[in-house]
Amino acid sequence: MSTFQPAANPSIAPVQAERVPGRAHVLVIGNEKGGSGKSTTALHIAVALMSDGASVATLDLDARQGTLSRYIENRTAFARRKGLDLPIPTHAAVTASSLPDRADADADEEARFEAALEPPLLSADFVLIDTPGSDTNLSRLAHTWADTLLTPLNDSFIDLDLLARVDSDTLKVVRPSVYAEAVWKQRQVRAVQGGRPVDWIVMRNRLSSLAARNKRDMGNVLESLAKRIGFRTTSGLSERVIYRELFLNGLTLLDLKRGGGAGPSLTLSHVAARQEVRDLVAALNLPPPAPVASAAEPATPEPMPERPAAE
Ligand SMILES: Nc1ncnc2c1ncn2[C@@H]1O[C@H](COP(=O)(O)OP(=O)(O)O)[C@@H](O)[C@H]1O
Ligand SMILES: [Mg+2]
Repeated sequence: MSTFQPAANPSIAPVQAERVPGRAHVLVIGNEKGGSGKSTTALHIAVALMSDGASVATLDLDARQGTLSRYIENRTAFARRKGLDLPIPTHAAVTASSLPDRADADADEEARFEAALEPPLLSADFVLIDTPGSDTNLSRLAHTWADTLLTPLNDSFIDLDLLARVDSDTLKVVRPSVYAEAVWKQRQVRAVQGGRPVDWIVMRNRLSSLAARNKRDMGNVLESLAKRIGFRTTSGLSERVIYRELFLNGLTLLDLKRGGGAGPSLTLSHVAARQEVRDLVAALNLPPPAPVASAAEPATPEPMPERPAAE
């Protein structure tokens, strides 16, 4: 079953983003808040897309923590150890510059970021970029390349505080805050550079299964904020211990099988969790993978665009 279906959620655009011919679709996973599930979500989406036949590259810009890089290392080692043919994305990490002068460091990071991005941008269907939970030059650069920006958000007003100040009595949005402003600035940079508008999606993560008041209030505030600062929302992923258990073997929910082929055995709760991941990928409305070029007529790779390609 293909996951490349528009979601039933009416807040989601019914058309899929168009693919620029010969260029990967860039999905940036960003939130200045650490621990919101960026790296976990990144690998789950990468594996889901690969299971549907897409070629996927991943870039880790949070090389200091290196969670996504470790996750993929663990996956490679587990597949080798068990003799399994797991889909593994082509992966690279870009470290922060150690140059003392800020301007030199920024230029160094930009050069190394573009050198890491260029090969997959010209050859893969999707490039997924995992970013650090802080405002860094590398993270800002990545955001200007995003065709789709996915922001996982823990279901907590503490995490929402990076998107907006909320009045505690009325629960009305007082004003957008740091991360919303940063995204707005990066959207401006992208527009000036002739890039396509970004599809910004906020997904709620670690949702409790209880119909708690906090969960309902968060939902209401997010919907009013979405209209005000221009993102759409998806229902996201529930809080489940399995996400923490999968890391050491580099597995995702999509790898689990009944009877425990790879890692823990698939339970009913895992089936429900896996459906949430598939629903999330469908809700992203990503363009389908590029048709495979016939071997007789190899595609001529286009040079790396100076800036994100124009409409
Ligand atoms: N839906 C979830 N349910 C339970 N734990 C989760 C969920 N999503 C992420 N986690 C856990 O939260 C922690 C932070 O996740 P991580 O992906 O490293 O976040 P980030 O990259 O934003 O810092 C990890 O321990 C991870 O296993
Ligand atoms: Mg991370």
